[in-house]
Amino acid sequence: MSAVQLRRGARSALLAAGLALLLAACGNNMASQPKVAPLQGSAFFADGLGARLPIEGTVAREVGGIDPAFFTGQGPQGLLTELPIELSVDLLRRGQERFDIYCAVCHGYTGAGDGMTVTRGFPAPTSFHDPRLLASPVGYFFNAATNGFGRMYGYASRIPAEDRWAIAAYVKALQLSQNATPDDLPAEVLSELQGAEGGVR
Ligand code: HEC
Repeated sequence: MSAVQLRRGARSALLAAGLALLLAACGNNMASQPKVAPLQGSAFFADGLGARLPIEGTVAREVGGIDPAFFTGQGPQGLLTELPIELSVDLLRRGQERFDIYCAVCHGYTGAGDGMTVTRGFPAPTSFHDPRLLASPVGYFFNAATNGFGRMYGYASRIPAEDRWAIAAYVKALQLSQNATPDDLPAEVLSELQGAEGGVR
């Protein structure tokens, strides 16, 4: 065998070994490496948990990011009776806009359960001004919007959590609005309305 033939032989042997390695690597992807699955325990850490808790003082990048009640509407005491975010006129305006888009078609613009679909034969939801629902906390409306209720499907995948709170807050405001008297208004708003033509007398 000449030196050239020898070199060629060595080269094809190397090539074959390389190909064999490549083929052997096929299918052996990162799924089969040692790892801890979500929520799996681990003997590696002293507390036996596979996952680490956020470092003390961690600030969530998303509103309510590490507060389960923000996403479920329920705390240790059951359904939340107060908003987990700050109530403001802007939040109510946002809630009104989102309610009119997503809910009014069935529940009606005042929440009376007389939306357009109902006038066309869709099952009528109970009016939000029913005593049972007047007594329901804000978390109840958030929970229904999140998970659905009976025949109504949930909106968790379509409406972000913060907007669902805005809607729940607006539903509570709608409830107040239907049973309000002039005495419920702040004095300056009342006098402004009394001054307006056709206003409150
Ligand atoms: C396609 C029509 C439809 C839309 C849209 C809709 N709902 Fe409903 N909703 C219903 C019906 C029907 C029921 C009653 C279901 C049942 O009793 O099986 C209901 C029930 C509810 C209840 C429970 C009432 C009770 O009797 O306790 C709440 C709260 C509620 N909806 C809130 C909302 C909110 C908030 C939105 C908007 C994010 C919304 N719904 C959008 C049809 C709708």
